[in-house]
Parts: sequence; structure tokens; C-alpha cells
Amino acid sequence: MSEELQKKPVFMPNRSFAKEARIKNMCEYRDLILEAEEDYEGFWAKLADEKIDWIKPFEKTLDSSQAPHYKWFVGGKLNVSYQCIDRHLDLRKNKAAIIFEGELGDKKVITYRELYYEVNKTANLLKNRFDIKKGDRVVIYLPMIPEAAFMMLACARIGAIHSIVFGGFSAEALRDRIIDAEAKLVITSDGAYRRGKPYLLKPVVDEALKEGCECVKKVLIVQRNNEDISYVPGRDYIYNELVELENPTCEPEPMDSEDPLFLLYTSGSTGKPKGVQHNQAGYILWAQQTMEWVFDVKENDTYWCTADVGWITGHTYIVYGPLAMGATTIMFEGVPIYPDAGRWWRMIEEYKVNQFYTAPTAIRLLHKEGRDEPAKYDLSSLKVLGTVGEPINPDAWMWYYDVIGSGKCHIVDTWWQTETGGHVVSPLPGATPIKPGCATLPLPGMIAEVVDENGNKKPVGEKGLLCITKPWPSMIRDIWGDSERFKTSYFSTAKKDGKPIYFSGDGAMYDEDGYITITGRVDDVINVSGHRMGTAEIEAAIAKHQSVAEVAVVGRPNDLKGESVFAYVVLKPEVADNMAEEIELYKEINKVITKEIGPIAKADDVKFVPGLPKTRSGKIMRRILRSIAKGEEITQDVSTLEDPSIVSKIQSCVI
Ligand code: WTA
Repeated sequence: MSEELQKKPVFMPNRSFAKEARIKNMCEYRDLILEAEEDYEGFWAKLADEKIDWIKPFEKTLDSSQAPHYKWFVGGKLNVSYQCIDRHLDLRKNKAAIIFEGELGDKKVITYRELYYEVNKTANLLKNRFDIKKGDRVVIYLPMIPEAAFMMLACARIGAIHSIVFGGFSAEALRDRIIDAEAKLVITSDGAYRRGKPYLLKPVVDEALKEGCECVKKVLIVQRNNEDISYVPGRDYIYNELVELENPTCEPEPMDSEDPLFLLYTSGSTGKPKGVQHNQAGYILWAQQTMEWVFDVKENDTYWCTADVGWITGHTYIVYGPLAMGATTIMFEGVPIYPDAGRWWRMIEEYKVNQFYTAPTAIRLLHKEGRDEPAKYDLSSLKVLGTVGEPINPDAWMWYYDVIGSGKCHIVDTWWQTETGGHVVSPLPGATPIKPGCATLPLPGMIAEVVDENGNKKPVGEKGLLCITKPWPSMIRDIWGDSERFKTSYFSTAKKDGKPIYFSGDGAMYDEDGYITITGRVDDVINVSGHRMGTAEIEAAIAKHQSVAEVAVVGRPNDLKGESVFAYVVLKPEVADNMAEEIELYKEINKVITKEIGPIAKADDVKFVPGLPKTRSGKIMRRILRSIAKGEEITQDVSTLEDPSIVSKIQSCVI
């Protein structure tokens, strides 16, 4: 029996929690599934009516005439910042919207009323001083500080499209994204704090803007650590000074349901990162609805998601989702193990956190580093524990369940992607019986299925393609500037009833209860510590090193990070003769990766090999490389290789 199918223990929802939950049991869950099955559009129209404060109601729920560019809630007008702030002012003006804790322990609570003024002032600043108009793109390169949320919501308020670039990306990576989005403004900070020390961000922006970024007219800088940075007169402006001069109210721009809300660049299996485009109504609806169903956040709860706003989890589950439902969301600048591995548990105790959402890689790290740390703190406020970003191994899951949740918190293992906007497959904390390492069942309205290329459901225990077979409101609308790539990336692998369906790039399998277990990516995307990276991007970076003739990158299972980057490098003949410099070259190659992408893409292994396993038509057989990296025996047929003897040659280099 495969590892994934081994019988797993089942844990039931906490009874007293379930009684109060929005979805209280499996009957209620099935009723919703049935409702969506019987009248799919009606199901979504009802939610959109209930949840969104429309400026103008929508006329048509779903328009499929330009599939796969589906349109939802056509004709409706709304404003996402209004949905996240203004509409809460009557009931929640003095409620904490954002609780911020900095790396050094500095704290700040921002109420909904304060958030309203900060966002309004920022919106006026963007509009009046920087001439940002509806549809303009604004790149945000900020650390985890409340201003990141202000900027996002200010863009949403005036109809500008934000594109956040994770602060760990290099100048080159930032530049590529700025150019692709044709951004008019870049927002950054002088720097921030990491592991107790200040670091700088602004110089990275300066470096990025050196070449090819004529589209960028201005740079807006948030002062976070007051480190010494240089300013370009006429281009660079300090946010903290200017924002105070602005009027505290700014009318929200009425936006069409299908106007773009943001772009977020993510890796695919080929080429450069793609600008995933999300639009207004469908995205915010699902962000809010999943907050309510999956985390079941109540009015007085404190919710904490440890992601970075530079990733989709930070967009949907730190900013948009929690604020849309009027919740209190924690934003934390730092790392989990500074000043010690008890930091997060201490924060849970201090803020009496009720829902906690993090990634398996952090759970594994804290398990390893701080086995005894959680015992020092009172974690009894916790009700729901979430995980996201990569498959969670049952060991880590059990530790999370027993030690952090004291066996009384439900774990929601949420499967979703940048492209899906919000959760797709996940337990419901008051209803779904859970099993370690299993994402369980699709949420109501999400028709996620494990199928073959023809859309036939896979039998229990057989791996298949994880597809979403009907369009859904929070789905990716396009790849910015490349509709062709949008179609080929997501709608060219599988069909159902002759129609292209959305393929996620992940493999999955059903168990005997119909639960879905995610088995990982089946394309050339790897997942290192929950960060999604295309092997093609890393290869392109390494190929820039002057000594490299050819390169292939694969993922290798790693106990802590999930996967690590494993590179096979063929050196140019003149260098290959002088292999004494291997260690130097290893460092240099990682330097190139850091320069081109960022330290998150660094290779743990760089192996210098005489050649790559290629078919006669020149295609690299990555499966073989993956097996060699894992130290597995090669069972694949190697006779189709141009040079079958290369396999043993590579193996001898890897040992
Ligand atoms: C993986 C992150 C297993 C998956 C929200 C997906 C997961 C990719 C899970 C998306 C999970 C995410 N179990 N794998 N619960 N959640 N993944 O776009 O491979 O950064 O395709 O979005 O992460 O990564 P992305």
C-alpha cells in the first residue's frame, strides 16, 4: 500500500466548538454541496448578494462567453476597500483591525477607524501627489509592516492595481516584475528588522531601477528603521511626511466586478514568473467567505496568519479576507525563532490568539528547534490551527495537533494556490473529520476533482491530476500581458466533456472516504519552504554563470524545507578540467542565484556532471535526475537516452 493510502487516524471536530460553528456538521456541509450542485450560479449569486456591499447590484452571475476568461457578477459595482473598512465603521469603529508586532517587540494596534483614515490619506496621496489613476500599476516592495496593508487598500480605494513583490526577491527579480507590470510607482521602505538587526530594502529598488524601468516615475519610501539610505531628488519621496498633509477622506472609486484588483507574480514550469491577475468581486467574496467557513472567526476573536504579504496567503488571509469580514488580524514582522523558538507561542499567549495559520516548514522548524518551548506558554485560547503551502507530513501534523492544539483544536490543512485566490480543498473546523496530512474535501462551490486527462475521476488510491472542473469566482482571470500563456498554463492539460478544465499543476489521490490527499507538483515547479519556484527560472539564473555550459534543476525531498534545490551543472570544457575549484564554484553559483532571484532560491546541492540525460530529440529526462537526487535506484527505461551510460556517470558524481 502506498504511503499516502495507509490507514490514518481520524479526529473529530471539538463538540462544543462545532455547536457554535458556521457549518456545524457534515449534514450542513453536504446540504451546501448539494445546493451548489443543483444550482451552481444560484449558489454563488446568493453568497455574493449576502456578503458584498454592492454600490450597484450585478446583473449576471457568470458569463462564460469568453471562456476560459470567465466573468463573475457582471455589471456589479463595488469597492474592495469599502468592503474591508467603511462598512464596518458603524459597528466596529473602535475594534482592532490590525495588531502589529515588530521584530524588536514594538507594538501597534490599528482600529478600523484608524485604518479608515490611514487608507484614505494614503489614497489621496497616491492620487493627488503621484497622479495614480484607476488601472495604473503600483509595485509594492515592503516588509511586514501595517503600511503594506494601507498601500494595498489605498490602491483598491482608487482603483489602482497593486503588485506586491516579496521583500526577499533580488533587484533583478524586482526589475523583471516592474517592467512586466509597467508600474508607474514603486513603494518601498528604507528597510526593516530581521533577527533583531536592521536590513535595507531601498538600495534593492535603486539597483532595480537602474535599467529599463522608464515606466517608473516616482518612488515612495516608508520610514521603518531610519537607516541611512540615499534619495534621488525629484524621484524619491518620504511617505511618513507627505501622508500627514493629506485630507483624511477619499471617496471610494466605484469599481466594476471584473476590473483588476491586483497582480501577483508566481512561478510556472516554464519561462519567467507570470503576473497572476485577480479581479474585484469574485476575489473578495471568496476571501471573506473562506475566512468565515474555514477559520470560523467570531466577532471577538484574534486571528493570526504568519505568512508574508508578498505571497498570496498574505494577500487573502492577512489583509483582504480578515478585514472584509471585520476581524482582528495580526501582522508580525519577524521570524519564528528570534529571539528564541518560543516567540510565536509567546505571542499566541499574549494576544490570546484564537486561529493560527502557518506553513508546514515553520511547524517542522519549531518542532525541531523548540520541542519544549510551547509547554512554557498558555496556548489555551487557540481554537483552529491552519496549515498551507505544501503537503504536511503526518509527524509534523501530529505535533501541531497534540502539542500546539492540545488535541482540542481542529487542523485545517488548506490546499489552494495563487491562482485560486482562496481555499479550495480544506476541512471545515466544526464539521469535517480530519486525518493527518490530508486536505480532505473540496469546499462548497469548489468543484475540485482528481481526474485523468479526459476528466474521468481517478479510482481510490491512484494518483491523478488535481483539477477544478467548473469556473469559480476567485479564479485567476489572466496572466498579465499574456493571455496565450494563461490558456496553455492552466487549460491545456485536461478536458471534461470536451471542454478545457483548470489544471492546478498538482497531483492528488482519493482515499476510501473520498478525501483528497495532495501528492505534490507534477510539473517543473518545486516548493522550497512553501515558496513556489520554477526550475526553469533557477536554471536560467545558473546558466548566467560564465563557467556553466548546461544546467538542470530538480527538487529533492528535504526534512525541514519540504524540498530543496538540487542542480546538475555541466561546466564548459576549459573549466571542467580544473575541478579543484568545485567549492568555489558552488558558492559562485549560489551567488548568481541570489543576484538573479534571491536567497530563497539558493541550491543546497550543486553537482558537477559530465552531461545530462537527454533523449535523442534533446529533451532532458528530469525524472531520472529526480531519482538520482533522491538516491533511488533507476527503474525507468533508459534505452531512449542518447547516451544511456550517462546515468551511471552522473550517479558517480552525486555520491
Ligand atoms: C502547494 C500557496 C499540499 C501546491 C497558497 C500548490 C499545498 C502550491 C497546500 C501553491 C496544501 C499549497 N497541501 N500542497 N495544503 N497548499 N500547496 O501559489 O503545490 O504559493 O500548487 O499558493 O503550493 O503555491 P502558491
